[in-house]
Amino acid sequence: MLKPAQTTVLFATSELYPFIKTGGLADVSASLPAALQETGVDVRILTPAYPPLLEKLPQKTPRKELFLSSIGKGAELIETRHPDTQTPIYLLNYPPYFNRQGGPYQNADGEDWIDNVWRFGLLGEAAAAIGSYETKIGFMPQILHCNDWQTGLAPAYLHFSSNKAHAKSLMTIHNLAFQGNFPPLVLPRLDLPWEAYNLQGVEFYGHLSFMKAGLQYADAITTVSPSYAKEIQTEALGFGFNGLLHERRNVLTGIVNGIHEKEWDTSTDVYLPQPYSLKQPAGKHGCKKTLKKELGLDNQDSPLIGVVSRMTYQKGLDLLLEIAPLLIAAGVQFSVLGNGEAPLEKGFRDLATRFPGRVGLNIGFDEALAHRITAGADMFVMPSRYEPCGLNQMYSQHYGTPPIVNATGGLIDTVTDYNEEPSKASGFIFYEPTAQALLTSIRQALECYKRPRIWHRIMRNGMKRDFSWRNSAQQYIEIYNRMKDSL
Ligand code: ADP
Ligand code: GLC
Repeated sequence: MLKPAQTTVLFATSELYPFIKTGGLADVSASLPAALQETGVDVRILTPAYPPLLEKLPQKTPRKELFLSSIGKGAELIETRHPDTQTPIYLLNYPPYFNRQGGPYQNADGEDWIDNVWRFGLLGEAAAAIGSYETKIGFMPQILHCNDWQTGLAPAYLHFSSNKAHAKSLMTIHNLAFQGNFPPLVLPRLDLPWEAYNLQGVEFYGHLSFMKAGLQYADAITTVSPSYAKEIQTEALGFGFNGLLHERRNVLTGIVNGIHEKEWDTSTDVYLPQPYSLKQPAGKHGCKKTLKKELGLDNQDSPLIGVVSRMTYQKGLDLLLEIAPLLIAAGVQFSVLGNGEAPLEKGFRDLATRFPGRVGLNIGFDEALAHRITAGADMFVMPSRYEPCGLNQMYSQHYGTPPIVNATGGLIDTVTDYNEEPSKASGFIFYEPTAQALLTSIRQALECYKRPRIWHRIMRNGMKRDFSWRNSAQQYIEIYNRMKDSL
């Protein structure tokens, strides 16, 4: 019998942990390819050559060149490998677009780069050039796996490619709210035909939408949890794409994210002052003590609630701000890490000023502190209005820090609610995104916290859960295989 050929995948992404990260996409872009690789898939990452990657990664020579028509010349493809996982990486090096200080999408003042349309148009075009075997890089992927709007044009480029023997494309939605919508006049410079600009193509309310291009032209679509896969087919959370997604529901699958178990392991985590584990839990107490000291929290043995989050409307932190004074009056302390929208940042600054010694606040992005809060807090709050998957509730359960979450998206799929199954519970779920519902849920958690036998069971249940990529990677492979069959 013939051995099935090895599956080959190009994983195109605009973020990659630990080099360039604004959220969970970076984590997934490092850990999912690593998990696929472990099962024998030949997966390679394509991402822009942002400065941190150029500075920190060794570069193979000679560099390859890729002609891209949206810039009318060649861009370099630099080959390297991820230092932690050894996954091969292609860095798309076009300095006018990617070699600049600031974030991947925004400048230091939090404004979108004005040339994002060209920057991520180029990323999509490069992905499609590799996927349509126009390059001489020695890699002809059967599957082009795209992630979010920044790579959404790639399936459209493949669709209109003159080379009909090309890869199948998979579009993964991490967050439907970010859509990459631009005026239609950009089409010619992107080298896409006008025929793409219609309702069955990339047109979306008078704009060219990168997200829509991906959803329309990809052979299959996934999103990052089964619940979110259902929610995005409704008007409330479909962000205008619900009709299209409902139409394409036969090729839409929700696959819950996993976590990078090597990065998030309480017994080896380099950021923690003390290791701990299910069998030797004592170190968690030390993590709390050190964290409180670090954040200048006063020394009472009060419950400590952790938050690590982008500060945006999605994350529902305004609900927490409303009720925080009540909780603080009841003896609760907070450790909060995040950055984002100015009114939310200000809200937390005011809270910290009003309650010195009770609120440890850090506005900014700090990977190490994120780990220390996840370990050192007693409980973790995520009042997200919607949450495609969410990683922090998994990290916190894994770290014995039960989460309190709103019933949405991946939060429902990864937390077992105390009210539903007290003996199996790993956290607390509330069922409407209101300050009152959040308060009731936190109060219930605080009641359980006072009863160590119950609390330790909730902690242990979370720590025992399997958040690995094993199952989910297998589901991606099944989808790849189905796509390969139709090649
Ligand atoms: P999203 O991608 O919507 O922001 P996720 O829960 O999927 O939500 O992933 C967020 C990731 O970003 C997690 O790894 C989290 O720890 C990290 N993170 C968010 N804000 C910060 C911050 N201010 N500092 C450090 N890490 C952060
Ligand atoms: C997005 C979502 C988040 C998800 C992450 C990784 O940023 O907001 O819920 O966990 O992508 O898939």
